[in-house]
Amino acid sequence: MRISLSNHPVHHLEFRVYGKQVLLDVEDPDEVLIPSDWPIFLTDNLKLSSSEREGTVLDLGTGSGILAIALYKMGCTNVDASDISRIALETARENLRLNDFGGNSDLIQSDVFDKISKHYELIVTNPPTFPDEQSLRRNHYIDYAFFAGSDGRGFIDKVIESVDKFLVEGGRLMMLHPSYLNTNLTIERLKKKNFKTSITASRNVSLNDYAKFLTQNGYDGETMKVKTISNAKTLGSELKYSDSKSSYEFTLDLVEAIKIPTNLNTEGFRP
Ligand SMILES: C[S@@+](CC[C@H](N)C(=O)[O-])C[C@H]1O[C@@H](n2cnc3c(N)ncnc32)[C@H](O)[C@@H]1O
Repeated sequence: MRISLSNHPVHHLEFRVYGKQVLLDVEDPDEVLIPSDWPIFLTDNLKLSSSEREGTVLDLGTGSGILAIALYKMGCTNVDASDISRIALETARENLRLNDFGGNSDLIQSDVFDKISKHYELIVTNPPTFPDEQSLRRNHYIDYAFFAGSDGRGFIDKVIESVDKFLVEGGRLMMLHPSYLNTNLTIERLKKKNFKTSITASRNVSLNDYAKFLTQNGYDGETMKVKTISNAKTLGSELKYSDSKSSYEFTLDLVEAIKIPTNLNTEGFRP
């Protein structure tokens, strides 16, 4: 059950990516996620190659457009953005304009990859990660920003299943991944798909702070916290209890998965 936030005025936000300003307007937080600093953790830990700057990149599940705009500010000129939500794509379009986007961009309404047809040098994503509430009806697009199937892995597992078909040889996926969804399981599954996979960055996040963020978004953060803890146990993920913070903590991981060119084996491949 969500409390409506729609009567709030337009949210004007400012982030910095490698010293450059990213401006975002979000009109309706019932439909589009007001970004946290998670996507900035991704870009802060992303070193782009020249082929990524010159090729075509995709922000999968773009929401407000934050990662697509950040990639442009980092030197990419061909930046596509996709989302299941039409309203997110409209918001991303406005925000690209607000940031004087001067590159090429296709904005694609797509359920994960179902309407994607290109091959990308780089795909970045900040996925939805919460287990569905049993009674959840998706009346607002914002629900898609948070919920992803009965164990919260629905979006991530769909990405793992098909991402190889949408990457060039040697292309890579950079995916934010909270440890409560069992990052090691994701790494195993990507390796089975023949990706060269590693965690390239991690930071601790207090589950209490995250519950507060959910509450600010109109959800019952406390109930979602309890569900996240029990779901983590079911998935075999370890959550540490921090006495000093009186909270469980998880790690926010950045998973890198590189598509190994078919003419090379794992040992011979250097990205
Ligand atoms: C956690 S939000 C991230 C939004 C934005 N990238 C950010 O970092 O603030 C996840 C985004 O994925 C989108 N999404 C959820 N399920 C999707 C699906 N099946 N296909 C495409 N996009 C989806 C949501 O609409 C939402 O915009």
